[in-house]
Amino acid sequence: MSVANSTNVKRVTTHVLQAMKLKGEKISMLTAYDYSMAKLVDSAGIDVILVGDSASNVMAGHQTTLPITLDQMIYHGASVVRAVERALVVVDMPFGTYQGNSKEALASAIRIMKETGAGAVKLEGGSEILESVGRILSAGIPVMGHLGLTPQSINKFGTYAVRAKKDAEAQKLLEDAHLLAEAGCFSIVLEKIPAQLAQKVAEEVKVPFIGIGAGPGVDGQVLVIHDMLGLTQEFSPRFLRRYHNLADEIKGAVARYVADVRAREFPNEQEQY
Ligand code: KIV
Repeated sequence: MSVANSTNVKRVTTHVLQAMKLKGEKISMLTAYDYSMAKLVDSAGIDVILVGDSASNVMAGHQTTLPITLDQMIYHGASVVRAVERALVVVDMPFGTYQGNSKEALASAIRIMKETGAGAVKLEGGSEILESVGRILSAGIPVMGHLGLTPQSINKFGTYAVRAKKDAEAQKLLEDAHLLAEAGCFSIVLEKIPAQLAQKVAEEVKVPFIGIGAGPGVDGQVLVIHDMLGLTQEFSPRFLRRYHNLADEIKGAVARYVADVRAREFPNEQEQY
């Protein structure tokens, strides 16, 4: 099958990701929330762009992901989709739009798909949200699951510590992964769980697993773009690799601009009409 190599596809689809798992090719995923960043991330060859509800933290400055609304996620999603030519775009369903009522879940997912043009939605949780997952899937909307540390449940967990270290929670996670895959989720994010458990889940359950703080034994990796570029400085979990220190670069550039303006060195003769 010629689509199995993600580097030669014009458009990454859920089927391409499945084929990548079968071939043992690793899947790359990053978040993006706006047009300009999404254009850069897509043109650098990323497989999946997640319009994460982490926008609530890194774009809006909230402490948790809970406050972000469906309208705000749709705004971010549509901005990203306008920029992307190749990657699969997945939009997070925000807290409160799918947990309580599967009909409301479907209505929220339909709004996301219609108003953003994204390729899929992502929901947090396992057996508790299975009815919503089933209803969304039955409308032909691809669903990505999310297990382990699920930030929308922070008020239940109380901390952002590693999840599923104890046997009972690890067992529930494995069962939830089976349930989501059998329901038809095309992929599942595993956040902040022991690497051994993540590897076991990814070997046992036949959909692509994308890890964040879940070790190397999964089918792909995801990071929040602000963290991996070093735009955020205060957040430093063990799993985070910083590929740049953009915060210092941006502050340096702004400081040079301020100095030039104050010294009347900007604009110069070539920079005017
Ligand atoms: O919202 C988000 O950015 C996420 C990733 C951390 C997986 O869900």
